[in-house]
Amino acid sequence: MTAHPLEPLLRPFECKSLRLRNRVAMAPMTRTFSPGYVPNDEVVGYYRRRAEAGVGLIITEGTTVGHKAANGYERVPAFHGDAALAGWKKVVDAVHEAGGQIIPQLWHVGAVRKPGIGPDPDVPGHSPSGLFRPGKENGHAMTREDIADVVAAFAEAAAQAQALGFDGVEIHGAHGYLIDQFFWEGTNQRDDEYGGSMTNRGRFAEEIIRAVRAAVGEDFTIVLRYSQWKQQDYEARLAQTPEELAAFLAPLSEAGVDIFHASTRRFWVPEFEGSDLNLAGWTRKLTGKPAMTVGSVGLDDDFLNGGKMGMGGDASPQGIDELVRRMAADEFDLVAVGRALLVDPQWLQKLVDGRSDEIKPFTKAALMSLS
Ligand SMILES: Cc1cc2nc3c(=O)[nH]c(=O)nc-3n(C[C@H](O)[C@H](O)[C@H](O)COP(=O)(O)O)c2cc1C
Repeated sequence: MTAHPLEPLLRPFECKSLRLRNRVAMAPMTRTFSPGYVPNDEVVGYYRRRAEAGVGLIITEGTTVGHKAANGYERVPAFHGDAALAGWKKVVDAVHEAGGQIIPQLWHVGAVRKPGIGPDPDVPGHSPSGLFRPGKENGHAMTREDIADVVAAFAEAAAQAQALGFDGVEIHGAHGYLIDQFFWEGTNQRDDEYGGSMTNRGRFAEEIIRAVRAAVGEDFTIVLRYSQWKQQDYEARLAQTPEELAAFLAPLSEAGVDIFHASTRRFWVPEFEGSDLNLAGWTRKLTGKPAMTVGSVGLDDDFLNGGKMGMGGDASPQGIDELVRRMAADEFDLVAVGRALLVDPQWLQKLVDGRSDEIKPFTKAALMSLS
């Protein structure tokens, strides 16, 4: 019997508390469909549909830790408080009933928070140096006490995730939000132990990872999402060379990350000259830890193409062969799929069944609904 052409994607995967039926994850996507910061039954159904259609791992939309400045947008679900956590419990149970696994993406937006945003509109953005991007001030430069509060908030959220039955956690360290604002020289101009060298800029994340590990124990899977690109500057890079990337990742790996989720806009683009490896491939090679790739899987346009989240692209199965080839070569262990799964909950099932002609094309309308 010949193997299914997607077999490399359909192999199970295990890492501590994660026991996935296949290698396909739903990428974290903010949906702003949680009035009062509480995920409701519509949100439950939205995640359940993806799990029912075979997605191995759901990574939830970014959900904010219990710090007064964590939130940056209305109707984004919180990950603290009885009502929000009760909503998340229903999501977890629904995904498990459908045979999937699920981890929350724990989020603090940092200087992306604007004046007037709830839950307390008087609370300013909190960030390493009060900078949204180089030269653009927004909000408050965090004190050591603020840093300790946020570290504790991540640990508390992770403990809640474990108590609710989630299968691990993802820490959002990407895309120019708080943790990435510490990583990035452009927004971190501190002259204490949290700024300056790469090691110092990574210290905040390291403390969060260690605190989360202490809260959840050895066997609960910790995923760290990071990116070179920032919403403030798509060309920004944390590491210009593999050596710099190794120096960046080593302390984070040592602190307790189990899986690195290397966020790129196009999974097939080599990260450094002289090798085909993408960012996830390099991450796996340099740390020896499992890595997840992401970026325009199943789409023929780039994420954020033209600054509009690639709206209007066509969700054709283009590039799947290349993804399968790289997965088969163990360049990375997992793949996250964003917009293709947002538009069509059955995207994976249709691909597996050879019904790719039935896959719904990506449209702007899909961004506006919880289909
Ligand atoms: C509507 C939308 C919301 C997103 N929200 C988040 C988020 O909350 N956290 C995050 O890390 N990335 C977020 N992203 C980025 C996605 O996780 C993913 O990296 C990106 O869409 C590229 O994957 P794709 O090309 O498969 O869509 C979002 C993307 C979209 C389209």
